[in-house]
Amino acid sequence: MTDSTSPPRRLQAPERAEIDTDRASVARVYDYLLGGTDNYAVDREASAALIAAMPDTPLLAKANRAFIRQAVRFLVGRAGIRQIIDIGSGLPTAGNVHDVAHEIDPAVRVVYVDNDPTVLVHGGPLLSAHVGTTLIEGDVREPDAIFDHPETRRLIDFSEPFAVLLGGVLMHLDDEDDPEDVAARIRDRLPSGCYLLVSNTCDTGEPRVRDLARTAAEWGLGSRCFRTWDEQIRYFDGLELIAPGLVPNNVWRPGLEMPDPDDMAHALHIGGIARKP
Ligand SMILES: C[S@@+](CC[C@H](N)C(=O)[O-])C[C@H]1O[C@@H](n2cnc3c(N)ncnc32)[C@H](O)[C@@H]1O
Repeated sequence: MTDSTSPPRRLQAPERAEIDTDRASVARVYDYLLGGTDNYAVDREASAALIAAMPDTPLLAKANRAFIRQAVRFLVGRAGIRQIIDIGSGLPTAGNVHDVAHEIDPAVRVVYVDNDPTVLVHGGPLLSAHVGTTLIEGDVREPDAIFDHPETRRLIDFSEPFAVLLGGVLMHLDDEDDPEDVAARIRDRLPSGCYLLVSNTCDTGEPRVRDLARTAAEWGLGSRCFRTWDEQIRYFDGLELIAPGLVPNNVWRPGLEMPDPDDMAHALHIGGIARKP
């Protein structure tokens, strides 16, 4: 049951038939955990359940977002990347990928990709408002369709290095979706000199992980949200990991904006970047 007494939020009625307001959506729950308003009562109810299972849940979302921003600064500012494909981009938030990239170089081009109708309806106007940005409907499980999409081909010059971001998306795939194979098929599409970013929640073996994972599954947010570090390092097979490797978000070249950098909960959300040799 959803809470119909909640104060009105920005999203009050679905504007597209596919937007299901009866079931929690990964993009909208993440938006809520980050402090956003692009969510419905059912998403806030799911978030409350996650927070009840582990009070640090919003910190994990915020740490992941801080990692993404810091990683984009590295990719554009240090690695010289000028084109980014952000798969599972999520709803617009403070410090979108293009916002961070354009602080360094306004010519950076970004293709945002998501399969959630809420993102496509509510994110489109903001995420594709710039000359060098676009938002397309796509599923990470079908990378070829993303790389071969006319909008991707319009903005990405495949003869130049680019980066693919998989921030908090492989964790929402079921085992049957074979996330390792999905990552392999994405790596196959990267020419030499390209970068791959991956971040996900991590099974550290702690009891609180079990509670949070079970709650996420109960709310339809993914049956295997927590995979081990050993499982996740394989997403980078054949690539050169950039220091400090696949590590908790607060350890990866932390910036000033990392929330509560010393909190142990950070170990539950990991990320890394690697380069195709
Ligand atoms: C937790 S959010 C992460 C957002 C952003 N990448 C970040 O790291 O801050 C995960 C996003 O992945 C999207 N997503 C989940 N499964 C997907 C799939 N199979 N294909 C494409 N996007 C997917 C969700 O809709 C959501 O917007």
